[in-house]
Amino acid sequence: MKKELLYEGKAKKVFAAEDPELLIVSYKDDATAFNGQKKGTIRGKGIINNQMSNMLMKMLQQAGIPTHFVEELSERETLVKRVDIVPVEVIVRNIAAGSFSKRYGVDEGFRFDTPTIEFSYKNDSLGDPLMDEYHVQALKLATKEEIETIKKYAFAVNERLKTFWQQCGITLVDFKLEFGRLADGNIVLADEISPDTCRLWDSCTGKKLDKDRFRQDLGNVEEAYQEIMKRLTEHM
Ligand code: TMP
Repeated sequence: MKKELLYEGKAKKVFAAEDPELLIVSYKDDATAFNGQKKGTIRGKGIINNQMSNMLMKMLQQAGIPTHFVEELSERETLVKRVDIVPVEVIVRNIAAGSFSKRYGVDEGFRFDTPTIEFSYKNDSLGDPLMDEYHVQALKLATKEEIETIKKYAFAVNERLKTFWQQCGITLVDFKLEFGRLADGNIVLADEISPDTCRLWDSCTGKKLDKDRFRQDLGNVEEAYQEIMKRLTEHM
């Protein structure tokens, strides 16, 4: 049966599933950066991101954080619950890097005493502008209660993933999450958790093992994704 393509994003395609409450996500090898201005391919990335995201979502589910994950269908495809995506990117940081370092003029690698959280409006034509909780409410993107739930889940994700990656010899620098509403209105973690959406540094050498290798033309991009996947599977 030919599946109906509902949406194609920069890194994934979304297809209808037989059950109207579910969707099929298919991970591509396409990579973009700087709001799509830089384009490329990371060979094998779709397979790694699909499998890694699913393993981490299962781990988070066991830690009491609800997610959209249902079942891995193939190397690149996963069945997920259909959600109404909250168009807010939720970024948690443990260490300064990327846009935080640039915005506040602080060296990459500066460690915070407590994690930070920030929101940006998921809107490519506006360049995903930074926003605060009042802006999220003003634009009716989420209610105050939903924002509280999202913050609680985002910090819980950070604690669980920080501990796990530490066991793998990896430092979780920062990451981006997206949340969605189920038909009953409950908030669940959606999208993906992968080296595309996290900064992951080797705890011993500080080597970057994430999409920054692509963003910054550091080379050995495929190898970095493979190394992260190897560490993950060795410690599951
Ligand atoms: P930033 O420092 O560029 O704001 O990125 C923070 C984190 O969010 C980093 O782990 C990469 C991730 N991220 C995405 O997943 N998608 C994006 O579009 C951007 C800009 C960042």
